[in-house]
This record gives sequence, structure tokens and C-alpha cells, in this order.
Amino acid sequence: MYQFPTNFLWGAAASAPQTEGHALLNGKSPSTWDKWYELAPANFQPNQGPAITSNVYECYADDIKRMQAIGLTSYRTSISWTRLLPDGKNINEEAVSYYRDYFKALNKAHIHPIINLFHFDMPWWLMEKGGWETRESVNAFAFYAQTAFDLFGDLVPQWTTFNEPIVHVECGYLFGYHYPAVVDLKKAVQVGYHTLMAHIAAVEAFKTGGFKGSIGIILNISPTYARSESAADQRAKDAADLLNSKSFLDPCVLGHFPPALIALLSEHQLMPLTEDGDAARIAANPVDFLGLNYYQPRRVQAPTQPKSPAQMPADFYSPYDWPAKKMNHYRGWEIYPEALYDMAVMIKDEYHNIPWYVAENGMGVADEDRFMNAAGMIEDDYRITFMQDHLRQLHRGIAAGSNCFGYHTWTFVDCWSWLNGYTNRYGFYRMALNAPYERSLKKSGLWFKTVSENNGF
Ligand code: BG6
Repeated sequence: MYQFPTNFLWGAAASAPQTEGHALLNGKSPSTWDKWYELAPANFQPNQGPAITSNVYECYADDIKRMQAIGLTSYRTSISWTRLLPDGKNINEEAVSYYRDYFKALNKAHIHPIINLFHFDMPWWLMEKGGWETRESVNAFAFYAQTAFDLFGDLVPQWTTFNEPIVHVECGYLFGYHYPAVVDLKKAVQVGYHTLMAHIAAVEAFKTGGFKGSIGIILNISPTYARSESAADQRAKDAADLLNSKSFLDPCVLGHFPPALIALLSEHQLMPLTEDGDAARIAANPVDFLGLNYYQPRRVQAPTQPKSPAQMPADFYSPYDWPAKKMNHYRGWEIYPEALYDMAVMIKDEYHNIPWYVAENGMGVADEDRFMNAAGMIEDDYRITFMQDHLRQLHRGIAAGSNCFGYHTWTFVDCWSWLNGYTNRYGFYRMALNAPYERSLKKSGLWFKTVSENNGF
């Protein structure tokens, strides 16, 4: 039996843009996703845009009953910035009623809400001014955060500012998966810096405002493993860690950037524009806790033909294809549960054992209806095995002293995934793609209920 600490949170995660629907209704203005789908639908899966997603705007009350049915004691979702503040300044009262009712219902059902502020959904009005490229975005986000704390602070015990902030940096400014899909390393660094300052400004507003509860950030800091112990491979590993993980982890938890990151960016003429006083604000506003998303490890080797100054991450490190890897072929991601233990120990040893939780972990699988039994239930035993394997490693990390307070899977009900639409499914509940978007329980949901009830398995 793997027994977890008392009051351990058993939950699931989702985001507003991937679940709410009503994307351009009830006063919401477009995010970059709504607009990009309108401008360039060919980038998306056919007829799978952000307009409806899981229709949670209408279904949340019933969904909360479904959460209870599988023993969830916690749930993370996000607020849509463009629903709450359609023009960035004026409050949309319909959004206030919706979120207040939703969060009240979660509390009433004894499902601990963790509410996130930004999940890749940049407002279009702000993107037209440059999005995270402009310093103006920092104050705009701080105003949004302050508004959310004022309106919902009595209902939200734990806040997070961003989900995976490195993702909109790399997908929007290096790899083409998010709008504006430009390729520009210098801009990517500036976007990352403004995002970090937006996070800091939100934490500052939370702390100076004297709100109850705690505030954190959700990071995807996949551990990096080098091909070999050679100096060149180890340099590649260090660069990958600095750029992808420590760039947010260190300022958010330790209150400063790693000197090695500053040296690396300076060497390649990539230092962002900053303002006087930024360093002091970063130092004064560490997070109370972390959410860590984990799906796959990062494996690297020395870059093959690096340019200097660097123009892409590939000039610092190349991906390494580990021959012994086990794959989730549907999503194209390696399955390596041991990394969860390594992450737990790293947080304990290098980040003063700050409280943290697994904010996402899960397995996306295509064409799951193949596994439907005669009673109409998807028998997703592969997902149960995946979770068991990861929970064993997490348990090892906790036994070694790491301060982990919960495990959230991605996700509760199958949801829309950006450019991949509904290709890969992750949910405890299957969702039908036609109205009324019916949900039906998968076998993994039944299993998770027993885990939650027993506080282990
Ligand atoms: C996380 C994101 O990185 O992974 C989610 O926070 C995302 O938004 C999830 O949906 C699963 O990845 P994907 O690309 O298969 O949907």
C-alpha cells in the first residue's frame, strides 16, 4: 500500500480556454486563440476551434457532481482574462456571477479550488499592442490579478498566476504553435521577462493587499538528462535547465536569476530590457508554493552545429533520442516516471523544500472508443498503470522528505487542446463531441475514486 500524507489533495486540472466554451458570448472578448482560429483555421484540427470546448460555462454544476462521484478533493481551473475584463479595464458582471457561482459550488462540495489566472490566453486587445513584448502587459496583468483577488478572494484558498509560462514563450516566439508564431530568440527572452515581471507584480498585489490564502505559479520543469557525462553534454544540460526551468523557478522561489543564466544571455547578446527596481521586486515577492506539471523528461546532448551568437535553443543543446525510452506513441512523449522522484528531491534540496504539488500529470491517447466495453465504458487500463507508476515515484520522493501536498491529473473531462483539438484524450470522463456534450465515466475515474478514498493505493 502506498499511503500519502494526511490531507493530500487528489484532484484534476483544466483551464478556462480549454473547457468553458461561450468563447465570444456573455460579454467575453476574443483571446488570441479565438482570433487565430477566425483568421487561420487551417492551423487547427478541422472544425475544432475554441468556441464550445467542453461547454463548462453551462455544465459546471453537473460537472461538480461528477467530480464528487470520483472522489476529487481538489480542482484547478483558470479565469478567462477576456471574460472578466473584456477591454482590460471594465468588469463584466456576468463573468463575476459565473465565477462566483462556480467557485462557491466547488467549496460547497468540499472540492478545494486552486485558481489560475493565465493559461496561454492572451487578450486580443493586448496582443494588438504587442502582447508580452510590451512592458505595458505587466501592469495590465497586475490590474487583472488585483481585480480577481478583490472579486473572488473570499472563495479561493490558493491562487496561481501562470500555467507553464515558458510555453507561450517557446510556442509563440520560437516554434510556431501559438500566436503570433514568430521565430525570434531575442523577442522570446523579452516575452519571458515581461511574463516573469507580470507574475511578480501579481504576487506583490496579493501580498500588499493582505488577501487570505496563498499564491504560487505552475511550472513545467521537466528534469533534463544528458546523453553522457562528457563536458559538452553536461554544458548542454546546464543550458537547457537554465533556459527552460531555472529562468522562472529561481526568481519565483529564490528571488533572483541564476548568475549563470545572466552570463549565458549576455554572452549571446540576449539580455532583455529591464526597469530600475525590478530586481528588488523579484527579491521581495517569492511564491508561497509551486505547482509542477510533469509529462516527459528532457533529454539533451551537445548541439551539433551551434551558431554564435545563438539564434535558437538548438544552438545551446540538441534533443537526445535515448534508445531505451518507453513512449506514449499517441502524443509522442516519453514515459519516464522516475523523473517525478528526481523533481521531488530537487525541490527539497535546491528550493528550500517549498510546498509543491503535481499540478498536471496524465496520458493523452487517441481513438479511445476502441477500448469501450459493452456497457459503454472506456476501459483505460493504460492510464491507470501510467498514474500508478508515477504515484509510486512521487511516494518515494515524499518518503525522502519532499514537501508535496497533492496530485492533480490532466484532466477531469476530455478537453480541447489548442492545435491538437480533441485528437488525444486525457479525461476521467469521456466527452461526446456533439451537443449536449455528454460525459461518461471511464474506468480510470472509478480507480481514482478508490485512491482518493484510501488516500493511497
Ligand atoms: C499542459 C498544458 O502542458 O499539457 C495543457 O497545461 C495541455 O494546456 C496539456 O492541454 C496536455 O498537452 P496536450 O498538448 O496533449 O493537450
